[in-house]
Amino acid sequence: MKAMSELTGYPELDALLPRLEAVPRLDADALAAEIVAVLGRKNGELTAALRSVPSRPQEERKAYGAAVNRLKVRFEEGFAQRSEALEAERRVAEQAGLDLTMPARHRWVGAEHPVTRVIDEIVEIFRAIGFTVAVGPEVETDWYNFTALNFPADHPAMDMHDTLYVDAAPLSGEQGGRLLLRTHTSPVQIRTLLQAPPPVRVIIPGLVYRNDPFDPSHAPAFSQIEGLAVDEGISFVDLKATLVHFAHRFFTPTTKVRFRPSFFPFTEPSAEMDVECQLCHGTGCPACKGTGWMEILGCGMVHPAVFEHTGIDAERYTGWAFGMGPHRIAMLRYGIPDIRLLYEGDMRFLEQFVTAGPGSGPRRQST
Ligand code: PHE
Repeated sequence: MKAMSELTGYPELDALLPRLEAVPRLDADALAAEIVAVLGRKNGELTAALRSVPSRPQEERKAYGAAVNRLKVRFEEGFAQRSEALEAERRVAEQAGLDLTMPARHRWVGAEHPVTRVIDEIVEIFRAIGFTVAVGPEVETDWYNFTALNFPADHPAMDMHDTLYVDAAPLSGEQGGRLLLRTHTSPVQIRTLLQAPPPVRVIIPGLVYRNDPFDPSHAPAFSQIEGLAVDEGISFVDLKATLVHFAHRFFTPTTKVRFRPSFFPFTEPSAEMDVECQLCHGTGCPACKGTGWMEILGCGMVHPAVFEHTGIDAERYTGWAFGMGPHRIAMLRYGIPDIRLLYEGDMRFLEQFVTAGPGSGPRRQST
C-alpha cells in the first residue's frame, strides 16, 4: 500500500500512517473530527510533533521537522481529496432528489386491522368448542340468498336486504335465479346443509353487501359471522348457553346479556342478543343511546322450511343459528364512533392498534 510504503523513518510518525490510509473511508462527520485530531491547532497529533522539534537533539531537528512537514502535507492532501469526494457524492444525491441529511423514517410496524382481529377471535372461540370454519361465494343466486332461507317472494323482510344484482344471465335450475351480491352469510347455512348430513357445527365468516349509504353507522359492504349447529335434540337452551359462553369469552366473564324476541324468515323462534354496553357498563351513555345495552347479533332455531329446502328430516333434527357483524362489534369494543373509520385506512387511526397485542385493545377489559 502506498501510504504504508512511504515510511517516515520515525516510529511515532509511522504510527499515524494507518489513519492516513483510513481517510478515504471516512464519512463527513468522522472526517471533520479527524482533521481536528491530526491538524488541530491545540491538540492535533502533527501540531504536537512540530512543537516537539525544538526539544529534539540538535542534529535530528532538521530531518525530523522535514519528515513531520511531509507527513502533514500528505494528510492535508488526503483530507482535501476526501472532502471533495464527499461533496461530489452529496451533489449526485441531491440531483437524484435524495437528501442525505433528512432524518431516517421510523420503520413501520404492521398491525392487524381491528376488524380482522375481532373476526379471528370470534372464530377461535367457536373453534375451541367444536365448530369448523365454512365459507361460501359472495355472488349468490336468489335461491340461496332468499328462497331457500324461507323469504317469501316480495316479503317486506327483503327490504332490509336490498342489494346489488350482477349484470349477467340468471342461473337456470331450481337453485338458480338472478345473481346478486349476498346480503348476509346465511346462504352458507344452505350450502353447508346441502353438502353433508348433520351433525353440523360451523362458523362462517365473510363479506356481505347491502344497498346502504356510507354513513356513520352503515356501510354498503361489511363483514358477518354466521354460526349454525344442527343435530338431534338441539334446543333453545343450547343456543342461549353457547352464545352466553361466547359473550363471556369475547367481552368479560361477567358481561350481562339479554335476548329479545325478533323475526327472521329462516329461524323460529327468533331473537336478538344484546350485551351490556362495553363503554358505560350498563349505566347508559351516548354509544348505547342511554339504554345500557348494545345489540350484537340475531339468532334463532332453524326454521323447518330451511330443512325442507335442504332435504333434512325436520322431525329428527333441530338446530340453531346466529349472525353477527364484526364491524359493529369492533366499534362497540373499541369505542369507535363512526364505521367509516374502519374502511379509510388512515394510519393515524390504525396505529392505535399496533401496541395493543392480539386479543387486547384500548377498550378491552382484562379477563
Ligand atoms: N342473516 C341475518 C341478518 O343478516 C342474521 C341471522 C343469522 C339471524 C342467523 C338469525 C340467524 O340479519
